[in-house]
Amino acid sequence: MLTFWVAARFFDRELIVNPHVLIPRPETELIVECALAWIRAHGRQSDPTLRLVDVGTGSGAIAIALAGQLPRARILATDISAAALRVAQLNGRDLPNVRYVQCDLLSGIGGRFDVICANLPYIATAELDVLEVAKFEPAIALDGGSDGLALIRRLLAQAPSRMAKPGLLLLEIGADQGKAARAAAQAVFGRMAQVSVRKDLAGLDRVLYVSL
Ligand SMILES: C[S@@+](CC[C@H](N)C(=O)[O-])C[C@H]1O[C@@H](n2cnc3c(N)ncnc32)[C@H](O)[C@@H]1O
Repeated sequence: MLTFWVAARFFDRELIVNPHVLIPRPETELIVECALAWIRAHGRQSDPTLRLVDVGTGSGAIAIALAGQLPRARILATDISAAALRVAQLNGRDLPNVRYVQCDLLSGIGGRFDVICANLPYIATAELDVLEVAKFEPAIALDGGSDGLALIRRLLAQAPSRMAKPGLLLLEIGADQGKAARAAAQAVFGRMAQVSVRKDLAGLDRVLYVSL
């Protein structure tokens, strides 16, 4: 267990982390890059009505990176963990366009979002016993249920009624979850959306990409 605060680099910022949050990973920057590319392609980088949510924000990594690039957008950073949200708030203290909300996925927050991002826990419960990082990172940030996709499936079920049109949903997944995650998204969205899986710099499946 980390018993102290340490610094971690994510996208263009230095964040602080403590034992209540995941240490942000470089591969998660792909979510930020996909979101920014989609927003720019829609010409909305300066749009003050642009509404984004980072579900399971942890240290605030994704929300804060996006807020730095999109100072006019309204960004919600949510987490089920109050302790994690305190870390995120500290990391984002210079960013007035981020609001922090404690809730379970999208329950308890209203409205539709142009972009929904999430790096939720996606490790299968049985793998946690042999996972080195599980010794010092919180289980609530890692444990994705029996096949690792439990939270991702729950968020997919909530997403269609919470996305604007056009809208984008970006979910980080494990390298071996691309096929199952794509099938889960297609089962929820049917023909309503384009569903694909984006690869990270190592060529591994990393982000489930759903656009309406
Ligand atoms: C893998 S960590 C990712 C943290 C951060 N987004 C990042 O990329 O570094 C997952 C986060 O999801 C949060 N979480 C777990 N279950 C949740 C739920 N049901 N609703 C909202 N957040 C949840 C955890 O507390 C944790 O902060």
